[in-house]
Amino acid sequence: MRYDVKDVRLAKAGQARIEWAGNSMPVLEQITTRFKKQKPLRGQRLSACLHVTTETANLAIALKAGGADVALCASNPLSTQDDVAAALVKVHKIPVFAIKGENNKTYYEHMVATLAQKPTMTMDDGADLVTMVLQKRTDLIKGIVGGTEETTTGVIRLKAMEKDGVLGYPIVAVNDADTKHFFDNRYGTGQSTLDGILRATNILLAGSRFVVAGYGWVGRGVAMRARGAGARVIITEVDPTRALEAVMDGFEVMPMAEAARIGQVFVTVTGNKHILRREHFRVMQDGAIVCNSGHFNVELDVPALRKLAKKKRAVKPFVDEYTLPGNRRIFLLAEGRLINLSAAEGHPASVMDMSFANQALSAEFMVKKGKRLEKKVYRVPVPIDREIARLKLRSMGIGVDRLTPEQKHYLASWQEGT
Ligand SMILES: NC(=O)c1ccc[n+]([C@@H]2O[C@H](COP(=O)([O-])OP(=O)(O)OC[C@H]3O[C@@H](n4cnc5c(N)ncnc54)[C@H](O)[C@@H]3O)[C@@H](O)[C@H]2O)c1
Repeated sequence: MRYDVKDVRLAKAGQARIEWAGNSMPVLEQITTRFKKQKPLRGQRLSACLHVTTETANLAIALKAGGADVALCASNPLSTQDDVAAALVKVHKIPVFAIKGENNKTYYEHMVATLAQKPTMTMDDGADLVTMVLQKRTDLIKGIVGGTEETTTGVIRLKAMEKDGVLGYPIVAVNDADTKHFFDNRYGTGQSTLDGILRATNILLAGSRFVVAGYGWVGRGVAMRARGAGARVIITEVDPTRALEAVMDGFEVMPMAEAARIGQVFVTVTGNKHILRREHFRVMQDGAIVCNSGHFNVELDVPALRKLAKKKRAVKPFVDEYTLPGNRRIFLLAEGRLINLSAAEGHPASVMDMSFANQALSAEFMVKKGKRLEKKVYRVPVPIDREIARLKLRSMGIGVDRLTPEQKHYLASWQEGT
């Protein structure tokens, strides 16, 4: 078996952490148990490009239990947990190609290695793997029944491919399931982004001026949790409805040109590029902390910061100090890569339980229905989405009401008024 991980001797520690995460993933566990019996993915070769974390390990184990040959590479050069990668190789015999801190060249070489098994299915977080297939390995397309995509940025890229008529096979947009983005993007990224900032810096959030760029699912979560920690939160937006929502949620809203002057901590979560750029870095206060929790590091114009700076030095892990003319310092966290996965451990397992239940069931859906689908981006079927919510509630010991026959009838009729 080919693989490329930092050190397989880390497997014992990684396995213990995989099991710890598994304790908080009851929905995925139920799916794994069923997959073991029914083997719905038998004969599939699944190439996955996901953050190599304890939660992803539990997903990979579920997919293998379902009968798939799984090969895994990282969806970000800084998000790999090396002990987890080692455990997947040594304990679970799943080939992994991922090393935390790998350079861009190795990152792409690892993707190539993951495709060597000639996949029948791809699984992406950010659409890098499918992009490689469409640009460099078109020979593989005819053998691929379908794929899945985990995050907002990936779905945006895939929809652009669909629009340009170049998407070679159908994709299920796992991100767009309600049981994914309502929870993972909001509560998962909300909590883990603050976790990453705190582990990297240990700053006091209470009283700080904390700027969140983007008030989408992730932005709402980050803003909510920062406020909970006592920060004075400012939102920047381009969408008037979302800006209005932020105002009515009680946040200050202003353009970045103003926020840049007063902010002490900045987090970008827009899925867009160059949210913080030269003009903003030039007016920031001394000591401003800048980071990104959107999928790609392009949200920050790091090359512009580098050009502006007289001096750069690493002050502690994941913290680089840039000294600008006038001796103002800007602290960039994790080189602008997703802070929650670089400096912390990513989302808590309990929330990834639902995201990855969606992944596993979408893979099963692809096996059953893929051949009949068009080369388009599909949402997760609603019955799957609702079933995951039901299973999650049950695992939490929470019951909900059922419609009475009278209520069902009422909702389906139009004759009854006041
Ligand atoms: N760190 C993680 O673990 C993690 C988890 C989930 C999603 N993500 C990523 O986070 C990003 C945001 O995801 P989302 O689900 O919140 O998307 P979303 O589409 O719900 O929200 C993005 C928001 O950013 C706003 N925006 C766009 N350009 C802007 C600009 N120039 N200035 C200010 N606001 C702007 C949009 O109007 C929108 O409201 C994506 O890149 C997604 O892939 C990261």
